[in-house]
Amino acid sequence: MTVAVDEGALLAELAPLLETEACQLGLRNLSSDPFFVAFFLASVSQGEGLGAAAVGMIGQDELAARIRNLDVQEREEREHEERTIDAARSLFPEWFDDAGYRYPEALQGKAYYVEVLERNRERLKEGGRYSRLNLYLTTTFAYEIMVLLLYRAVADAVRSSPLPPEVRERVACMIDAILEEEQGHVGIVRQHQALLETPREGLSDEALGLLDTLAKMSADDYRQPAELAVRHVVSMMECYADAERYRERIQSTPGARS
Ligand SMILES: [Fe+2]
Ligand SMILES: [Fe+2]
Repeated sequence: MTVAVDEGALLAELAPLLETEACQLGLRNLSSDPFFVAFFLASVSQGEGLGAAAVGMIGQDELAARIRNLDVQEREEREHEERTIDAARSLFPEWFDDAGYRYPEALQGKAYYVEVLERNRERLKEGGRYSRLNLYLTTTFAYEIMVLLLYRAVADAVRSSPLPPEVRERVACMIDAILEEEQGHVGIVRQHQALLETPREGLSDEALGLLDTLAKMSADDYRQPAELAVRHVVSMMECYADAERYRERIQSTPGARS
């Protein structure tokens, strides 16, 4: 089945989800407090690291080799992981020690990634369309859609925050630069069609099986996880709305090094 997903239209459709009062307040609180900016960047770094590792999730070299720019995406996600944590550490050294970020167990990147991944896995299994390749493509797409909306919202909030101008500039410009690369990643959905059109001669039974399962997917298999990913990130941003309580929660996680 041909899948047609208009990324621009989907972004426009999902953007209003971030407009809840609690999410907007959360974004303002996040971007006004160095403690939260450091926490957010460290969480982003964790999520980006998982995004880079996910490239290996396909677990099928013949098809992985036919997905365009997979190596570029992996390298860029790895760079995002490093850039965000390096910026957090150099701008907000008070929240780091020799072992790294002081509240590692509180970081949101991994919990978020796993939640979206597992719910999507379940969904694909229920519909009889599960394969590691399908899971990779749809979860990556969902994650990229979320990233485009969230990073833009945070960069905008940081630009109008009361933080010192040099901090604002550094954080917002870094996010802008990452966003530019993320625009390319969202094109992952076009790889779906390219894979379906790939010549089948010479492919192993395993690869052919993956292509058959790929053919069962529809545009909805991309849209639904994207919506889930955005809804889930909105609920995370809403945590910042009650700033004092959230900060306490972060600082009292097991393994915290105050
Ligand atoms: Fe990234
Ligand atoms: Fe990305």
